[in-house]
Amino acid sequence: MPEADVSKAEKNYYTDQPQKNEAFFLKGSNNYDWGFKNRLGRIFNCESGRTVMLAFDHGYFQGPTTGLERPDITILPLAPFADALMLTRGILRSLIPPSLAKATVLRASGGPSILKELSNEHIAMNMEDAVRVNACAVATQVFVGGENETQSVMNLTNLVDAGNRVGMPVLGVTAVGKDMVRDAKYIRLATRMCAELGAAVVKTYFVPEFETVTAACPVPIVIAGGKKLPELDALKMAYEAIRQGAAGVDMGRNIFQSEAPVAMIKAVRKVVHDNMKPEQAFELFLAHANLKKHKA
Ligand code: 5RP
Repeated sequence: MPEADVSKAEKNYYTDQPQKNEAFFLKGSNNYDWGFKNRLGRIFNCESGRTVMLAFDHGYFQGPTTGLERPDITILPLAPFADALMLTRGILRSLIPPSLAKATVLRASGGPSILKELSNEHIAMNMEDAVRVNACAVATQVFVGGENETQSVMNLTNLVDAGNRVGMPVLGVTAVGKDMVRDAKYIRLATRMCAELGAAVVKTYFVPEFETVTAACPVPIVIAGGKKLPELDALKMAYEAIRQGAAGVDMGRNIFQSEAPVAMIKAVRKVVHDNMKPEQAFELFLAHANLKKHKA
């Protein structure tokens, strides 16, 4: 029990100052509960409103991906430069030190390997486990137009229902099948569906006319990096995505498969958080990478 308040000083209720009632900084996110917003606020930087998410969950369907053979060696040095880590709970528990105070986005879907039909995914994690490891969001893919479109949509909606019960945001990932056209019309459809079905954040690919994709999506969009590109091209893509309304990147191979991954993630940060032009960020990459002869 504290002692009784016997101070003789006059109390100050600041009656001339109305209590602040600020809107939450993220697009479309004002009406969530406190824990839900707090989790989003750990993924996204509240100054820039953006995030550099490092994606290395690829092993959940394709095993030891190039650059991820030993995440303890290749990924841990990158972690301090990421705002959030997107990974599986297996890698989280086996390799990520709990003392690493980083937001985590957990892959929550799975099932088929690269040897089978990828759209045949199910929810592969209980929400209780995401809470147990203090995750900031969980992720599942939606295969719009894919063989198991409806099943993947139900995965998203089931995860959203489970997430809403405990204040856990869901990242909806738009998976584009091998035979599908990756254009603005398709990406608008897939991202908007994810948001309408309850995803708090949507991850998709950068395409021409991207500003129409971000305009039509009521929640933040982050872009995947996709296949490894020359570093300057990847920085140009990130810059254009941000300029056209993306709230950040969820980039994997273009960082961890870079010749100089730490230099690359630092350059990506500059583009995402400071609007640095890609050419300037590339110079920074070269300087940090000590690869003066590197060609873009
Ligand atoms: C797999 C994923 C991956 O996490 C992500 O898309 C891969 O990132 P990148 O394309 O940048 O390597 O969601 O479907």
